[in-house]
Amino acid sequence: MGPFVSIGQVVADLLDLEKAGFATPEVQAYLLATRIEPTSLERYVTVDQTHYTRNLIHRTDGFELLALCWAVGQAAPIHDHEEQRCWARVERGRLRFTDFTLLSDDPPHLEQSGPAVTGDPGHLNALPRIHKVENDPSFRQRAVSLHLYARPFAECTIYDLSRREKRRQRLRYDSVAHSIGFWDGG
Ligand code: SIN
Repeated sequence: MGPFVSIGQVVADLLDLEKAGFATPEVQAYLLATRIEPTSLERYVTVDQTHYTRNLIHRTDGFELLALCWAVGQAAPIHDHEEQRCWARVERGRLRFTDFTLLSDDPPHLEQSGPAVTGDPGHLNALPRIHKVENDPSFRQRAVSLHLYARPFAECTIYDLSRREKRRQRLRYDSVAHSIGFWDGG
């Protein structure tokens, strides 16, 4: 692990990686090595007791960086990432990640890809195609995670395993701290 850097520095580094082609191994190595100063994330932390919050940190045509905030008991249902590359890193608290494989699409039939993995700060859930993300129910504390999507995505498919149903879901931001495509260096 490297030294702590601010989230502003992370955005600047991701912009450099984007200029260099945003190659998966380099992006992944960067996320594994980088530690983020917790105070620099504070402005992106919002809590809503009705749903986990999605807080946009930065977006370009090539990638989208968000802070997701999870109150106790909150979860993202099983959803896909289509052709997007997705990395989710725990910054605070403890999250549980469960990855799935789509065996057939219509009606949807999914199989859990392996055991659910519980992650503490620094844990990276890399490149899932279909996954579920939950605030670890046994930990009972708020959590914050950093999500990098390349490219940005505005919609996904949500799967309901018990009903063997799927539906499209539009994704929205709970907060947008900066103008999209512009970074003030803070
Ligand atoms: C989301 O971005 O709302 C879902 C979390 C994830 O896919 O990692």
